Amino acid sequence: MNPQHKTGDVILAAENISLSFGGVKALTDISLDVREHELLSIIGPNGAGKSSMLNVINGVYHPQQGQVTWRGKPRGAIHPHEAARMGIARTFQNIALFKGMSVLDNIMTGRNLKMHANFLQQALWWGRAQREEMAQREKVEQIIDFLEIQAIRKTPVGRLPYGLQKRVELARAIAAEPTLLLLDEPMAGMNVEEKQDMCRFILDINDAFGTTIVLIEHDMGVVMDISDRVIVLDYGKKIGDGTPHDVRNNPDVIAAYLGTRH
Ligand SMILES: Nc1ncnc2c1ncn2[C@@H]1O[C@H](COP(=O)(O)OP(=O)(O)OP(=O)(O)O)[C@@H](O)[C@H]1O
Ligand SMILES: [Mg+2]
Repeated sequence: MNPQHKTGDVILAAENISLSFGGVKALTDISLDVREHELLSIIGPNGAGKSSMLNVINGVYHPQQGQVTWRGKPRGAIHPHEAARMGIARTFQNIALFKGMSVLDNIMTGRNLKMHANFLQQALWWGRAQREEMAQREKVEQIIDFLEIQAIRKTPVGRLPYGLQKRVELARAIAAEPTLLLLDEPMAGMNVEEKQDMCRFILDINDAFGTTIVLIEHDMGVVMDISDRVIVLDYGKKIGDGTPHDVRNNPDVIAAYLGTRH
């Protein structure tokens, strides 16, 4: 699909972001836009600042300089739960699930934001809370069908192979019905077949729900295949931003990957 036809307005803009940890400069003067409905990949060698950038976008890290604008309004320093409320969901480079809980219950935790009845209401208006619980469960079952994990819905997550745990984490993230989905290496450690499945699900989410996706991924074949646009980081600096074709032919990017510049 032609990205020009597909993508909409800028929903998130990071402007001149610099972030350091003591003497380590994780990000230096990074500006980037995320446009509605696009599938944007962030690539770069290890330690380039990719995860740090996602952490800035969802409020885990607060940059020393620069600002993030959400739908045209500067956001200020926010916390991850506020980012979640704005419609930003994510998965982590290291899986963050409740290992002893079932697949179904883990995905239910992704619905917390959508729950209306609080604890007291649940005690006082048992009927309403029960109706709500059923509605939430229905939504979760739809997601389970969508990601083809019916067979493992009652299995404790810790007993699942790694590839399926990654899929459950994706399910939990989309259970929040996010506008913007941040995926930090969702295919790391997967075999070819698992990667193909994950690519299909990511594309399906992007297509079916119009969810904007920012993906960090090391597999260049995957990145070039599924991205509308690619941003390249190297040593905390942005060295490329364009279509997969542009980026593949960018001399700075080629040098960074071949290691000729350092
Ligand atoms: N919480 C932290 N404390 C100290 N240094 C950090 C922290 N988070 C990131 N860094 C440093 O910032 C730099 C960028 O790290 P980041 O995790 O963003 O890279 P990355 O591109 O995601 O790498 P990878 O491909 O290995 O996941 C690295 O030098 C890293 O050691
Ligand atoms: Mg990382």
